[in-house]
Amino acid sequence: MAIFHGSKVKIFALSSNKKLAQAIADYIGIPLSSCDVSRFADGEISIDIPETVRGHKVFVIQSTNEPVNEHLMELLIMMDALKRASAREINVVIPYYGYSRQDRKAKSRQPISAKLVADLLQVAGATRVISMDLHAAQLQGFFNIPIDNFRSLPIIAKYMKEKELTDLVVVSPDHGGVARSRMLADVMGAPIAIIDKTRPEPNVAEVMNIIGRVRGKNCIIYDDIIDTGGSVVAAANALKEAGAKDVYACCTHPVMSGDAMNRITNSPISEMVCTDTILLPESKRFPKLVQLSVAGLLGQGIINIIDDQGISSLFQ
Ligand code: R5P
Repeated sequence: MAIFHGSKVKIFALSSNKKLAQAIADYIGIPLSSCDVSRFADGEISIDIPETVRGHKVFVIQSTNEPVNEHLMELLIMMDALKRASAREINVVIPYYGYSRQDRKAKSRQPISAKLVADLLQVAGATRVISMDLHAAQLQGFFNIPIDNFRSLPIIAKYMKEKELTDLVVVSPDHGGVARSRMLADVMGAPIAIIDKTRPEPNVAEVMNIIGRVRGKNCIIYDDIIDTGGSVVAAANALKEAGAKDVYACCTHPVMSGDAMNRITNSPISEMVCTDTILLPESKRFPKLVQLSVAGLLGQGIINIIDDQGISSLFQ
């Protein structure tokens, strides 16, 4: 039985990102507990937890990236198993929260899938959610349980500061990301610029305008997600056309769908900096990519949560 700081604690890793889960467990100093995830002949998920969780503070680590529905369902079924096995707390660590971009009705008859996922997690038994850079902070209001929204900002800012770049400007790739970019700009001691982006259709990004001075500047585009790469590449092209020096693209979650890798490789972006909330297979790695680990940040956050200590100091 793992007793950690006086509590019975177990940490489980599901399928999406075992590498990050292992690094978090190593940081905390608790071995990962075992759980077997398998499939019935028809594809249904089966989960077997071969050790007791009764009365434990349990942490389950699972990002809900592609295949989104498989990873989500795995997590829900795991929570159901833990709840029925009398776990005292079910803390779900979802470094990347899939469906988060469907957080409002952008037009008539659209679902709010991020809220549906929040409801599913709570019904399945989550007592706390720990995530990182939720697409919109107000997603926290979709939950009636505690939710801790960690930020990658200190990790990305530290890496970018070490480059000692001068003439900097932090660029928000759209209106929605201004608050996030302003935080990075404050840490970097730089001004911000804003890309006036529109989406004429899903997955297509168009730059209408650049608000702010970028000529002769080193630009850091800061986004929560890089998915198809359309937004950052359109932004980088526009920045270059406006006379920018070097362009760096930073994000927390490298979703990297479809042709994102080639699109970024063939763009004027000098380097793409992201974190390991999503595990990237070898086939999605490329020379311009730098992946920084959030294991220490999440690991320390989990320790503080176990100890009933605050976590905001970790974001400073
Ligand atoms: C949108 O609001 C998000 O913050 C990202 O800008 C977007 O998801 C990136 O998607 P893509 O890489 O496909 O342009």
